[in-house]
Amino acid sequence: MRVLVIGSGGREHALAWKLAQSQHIKEMWCAPGNAGIAEEPLTARPSRKVECVNIGAEDLPKLPGFAREKKIDLTVVGPDNPLALGIVDLFQQEGLRIWGPNRQAARFESSKVFAQQFMEAHGIPTARAGTFSDARTAKTFAASLEGRCAVKADGLALGKGVLIATNVAEANQAIDEILVNKTFGLAGANIVIQEFLEGMEISLHALCDGKTAKLFPTSQDHKRALDGDQGLNTGGMGSYSPVPFLTETTLDQIRDRILLRWLNGCAAEGIDFRGILYPGIMLTKDGPKVLEFNARFGDPETQVYLTRLENDLVELFEACLEGTLDRVELEWRASSSVCVVMASGGYPGSYAKAKAIGGLEAAAQLPNTKVFHAGTVRVANQFLTSGGRVLGVTAWAPSLAQARNSAYAAVEKIEFDGAQFRRDIAGKALASASESV
Ligand code: AMP
Ligand code: GLY
Repeated sequence: MRVLVIGSGGREHALAWKLAQSQHIKEMWCAPGNAGIAEEPLTARPSRKVECVNIGAEDLPKLPGFAREKKIDLTVVGPDNPLALGIVDLFQQEGLRIWGPNRQAARFESSKVFAQQFMEAHGIPTARAGTFSDARTAKTFAASLEGRCAVKADGLALGKGVLIATNVAEANQAIDEILVNKTFGLAGANIVIQEFLEGMEISLHALCDGKTAKLFPTSQDHKRALDGDQGLNTGGMGSYSPVPFLTETTLDQIRDRILLRWLNGCAAEGIDFRGILYPGIMLTKDGPKVLEFNARFGDPETQVYLTRLENDLVELFEACLEGTLDRVELEWRASSSVCVVMASGGYPGSYAKAKAIGGLEAAAQLPNTKVFHAGTVRVANQFLTSGGRVLGVTAWAPSLAQARNSAYAAVEKIEFDGAQFRRDIAGKALASASESV
């Protein structure tokens, strides 16, 4: 098979790495990819590596032409933007096979208003919320929550469209910023205001074929830049799986009240969702509640999931497209996995690029460890930083504590000027004594 992966981050490196292990794949391209992806050999043809091609993930006019030229059998989409732009519909119109939700199904992520209304219509537990296009009524609603709320731009806003307020003044400021100052442009023509939910936040992933949804094990991201969940929100500074503080009862609630109701809602509304549904969940004292839906793999959740997954990923994607997921069992290594993101100094603010990265070869020698690249380029024989998140240093082991030690042992081997990473990834899990699920 010939496969094309779209995207360039740590998530896409993990996808390419796992796909490259499939016996089915004889050639693989990644658009645009990164320097780590370009090093991945194909298990079925070890003399060949994944080829990175200089076409942007959002270059919708060019991508189908490339897929036709290379006779690609399957295209796999990593990021949210091309999905929201309708890349799946476009490929399908041209008779090209592509894995990911179509534009209508991707609205779970690309429109927070749609997602909120869907949850309310289908009884999926979420925050109390209202939808507004007018600042005055929005402020009245925020005041009814005493200003403790999340103010969310409806559309995609590079992950920056959610403003958290703790009092009325902050809520009013957030509403003005989106609806009046139009900081997020058209993406902020409408907003959702949710009550502020307290609890532990976790990530869920479910693979869907339009009729069946198969839940992955649990994972947790670390969104703040600094230890102890301090500092600014980022794309994600590290992750681990499984999450040990979920009871079987909570998991049953997640299956029945969230996943099943979501599937039934999709059937009722004629939404054909084929891909990954990634709900962000708050474990509140009243049970699990959905904060948001994403319609793609999480980054850096993918790095810990795919280092635990035993199945051939191509076969799973094919089952999504064929509608045969009900016949597939997801198989996971009975191990834990931890990913520590190494970022450029200053991230998520401004940061310098083109810093030489040392120690990658030493880290690659370590067992049960994989360094996924996110923002890297290769110049001659040197890997250089080229983005905010640079590497996702991932290790797996029988226990979470061992996996964490191994991931940090690999981090210690790697260096670049200004490297910034959290030292407490999986810390909450290790502090909790309950049983793993
Ligand atoms: P979202 O993009 O909707 O997931 O929002 C980004 C982040 O904001 C989430 O990962 C949460 O940490 C936080 N957040 C969003 N909605 C709420 C809420 N209703 N209550 C508390 N925190 C929230
Ligand atoms: N883990 C955060 C995200 O993928 O949006």
